[in-house]
Amino acid sequence: QIRSKEQQDPFELVADEVSLLVNRLRFMVSAEVPKLASTAEYFFKVGVEGKRFQPTVLLLMASAVKFSLSESTEGKVLSILADKLRSRQQNIAEITEMIHVASLMHDDVLDNADTRCGVRSLNLIKGNKLSVLAGDFLLSRACVALAALGNTEVASLMATTVEHLVTGETMQISTSTEQQRSMEYYLQKTYYKTSSLISNSCKAVAILAGHTAEVSVLAYEYGRNLGLAFQLIDDVLNFTGTSASLGNGSLSHIRHALDYLRKSHGVERTKELAREHTDRAVKAIESLPYSDDKDVLTSRRALVDITERVITRTK
Ligand code: FPP
Ligand code: FPP
Ligand code: MG
Ligand code: MG
Repeated sequence: QIRSKEQQDPFELVADEVSLLVNRLRFMVSAEVPKLASTAEYFFKVGVEGKRFQPTVLLLMASAVKFSLSESTEGKVLSILADKLRSRQQNIAEITEMIHVASLMHDDVLDNADTRCGVRSLNLIKGNKLSVLAGDFLLSRACVALAALGNTEVASLMATTVEHLVTGETMQISTSTEQQRSMEYYLQKTYYKTSSLISNSCKAVAILAGHTAEVSVLAYEYGRNLGLAFQLIDDVLNFTGTSASLGNGSLSHIRHALDYLRKSHGVERTKELAREHTDRAVKAIESLPYSDDKDVLTSRRALVDITERVITRTK
């Protein structure tokens, strides 16, 4: 694997495009009733940037599965079509971000959270009722945007991910003791909660480009494994953070759990599992059809780079 010196930051590669996209999102979430508008736009306001992982990954995926244009006479027509396609793929990124933010608004109500994206959470500022309504509102705007794309396969994929988010969240709040011990249950819940949205939207990006099932499944596999690895590491960081900040004395029942975790090498094994998933994500990118287009190759390298960041992140 060539890791060139001029290896670029994956987020930088599409940063300008992501910022335009967020600008458009600000328009897309404007509402008739001022109270709803100001609530719904909260996470799209300047200064509340969030990490915008999903749009970044999706725009890179769009480039990674791009068909190269030849310099032929049809060049002009093809480039108009390519621009049109790019804007439809940007729409997928917008829809995905709206669904993501909607799910976070609802999640913060369920978790009674007080911070989100480095700022005070919406439920804390506006209360639970408006947070739930704002989430519903974003979700309905996402549906409108999805309908406008006019692709039933893509619409069905994205609707299914919303079902998965709800399923995953429900699995999380209603786990029996037996299910708590089941790795299978944990991984299924994790797929629904964290990985389904990114995997299916990656697939949607490939489908819009007119790719065969083979390529869209590779896009899906990348997203699925990236999302799983992301959540596995998130869960590890939750534990390592807890043991570091717990101190001595109180909460001894949690200490027992942490002791058990240490003896069973839970953290190491979880990290290994996360690594298996990032390896699979990399494999999916490497299995994409051959291309010698510079932009395509740079984007594929960036997607590989993102898997490495997911596995090595410490916060
Ligand atoms: C973070 O949400 C994103 C997810 C849970 C989606 C799955 C992961 C990825 C698409 C890849 C992540 C990439 C890297 C480089 C770590 P959040 O609520 O933590 O983010 P937000 O608050 O900024 O939207
Ligand atoms: C964050 O998990 C939560 C999710 C990734 C999904 C939440 C989904 C729902 C509430 C279902 C409703 C969905 C829609 C589309 C309206 P977390 O609480 O473990 O992580 P956090 O630290 O980011 O809060
Ligand atoms: Mg939460
Ligand atoms: Mg939660």
